[in-house]
Amino acid sequence: MYRLRRALAATGIVLVGVSVLSLVGALDGSGSDAASLTTTLPSTTSTLPPAPECTEADVQVLEDPATAWATVLVDTARAVPADFGPTDLRNIADAGFPLTDGLAVRSLVVGDLDALRTAAKADGVPLTILAAYRSYAQQADLFTKRVDELGNTEAGSRVARPGHSEHQLGTTIDVTSEGLTDVDSSWGSTPEGQWVATNAHKYGFLLSYPVDASARTCYDYEPWHLRYVGRDEAAKVVASGLSLREYLWQLDPIDIAAGATTSTTAVSADGGSAP
Ligand code: DAL
Ligand code: ZN
Repeated sequence: MYRLRRALAATGIVLVGVSVLSLVGALDGSGSDAASLTTTLPSTTSTLPPAPECTEADVQVLEDPATAWATVLVDTARAVPADFGPTDLRNIADAGFPLTDGLAVRSLVVGDLDALRTAAKADGVPLTILAAYRSYAQQADLFTKRVDELGNTEAGSRVARPGHSEHQLGTTIDVTSEGLTDVDSSWGSTPEGQWVATNAHKYGFLLSYPVDASARTCYDYEPWHLRYVGRDEAAKVVASGLSLREYLWQLDPIDIAAGATTSTTAVSADGGSAP
């Protein structure tokens, strides 16, 4: 961490804590308060170093996202290349969901996505998918739209800048209850949301942005946003008591320092993008 601080300071990058907002966003949009909801994060007794502070930068990940899909850290500082896109995308229909144009995940996700869908349905909480793979260009469009609607600071706590979204990996989905066409933070307290928080990891999916973890995950609570890391990796993350971001940082703690010379984006004190 101290190495990171020094490296970022040397390159003029400002380290800040992203603001923790009591109001949390709808699916990359607006939403309502959900202060006391459950999370997949158990209380932790970890003695590992504290989470890296949230910062905005544009450090390109060193790993190939196509092969390091389970362990590559994508956050507000680390980005996948703009031209990265999976070559094995498959429509979510292959996992038993209704065929929906534009909703696709990598082939390696399909088996466990089908298992997740089947288990949720069997437990009386059928799910639907609202979003899946997003290209760099699609993320850019979404981010611009949200900035126009919400302003830089609010948008930045809800939507990833292009290159910084786990959706670009092709392993990430946004879910809600079957029959709904949107979702917000209050969904986390529904039976479906509770089921996802409790069970998704059994099928290899993790909530990247659990409740009350904004300072560590760098985004507001998103009970709908699930990244697939595989069952083994998911079990390790849950056992660690860390958020996915913190866990992946432990695996590769010096990436940002190593790549900091390429970083460019300073941020304001409340975590919003500098104009
Ligand atoms: N809403 C999450 C942070 C994303 O845009 O990827
Ligand atoms: Zn999402």
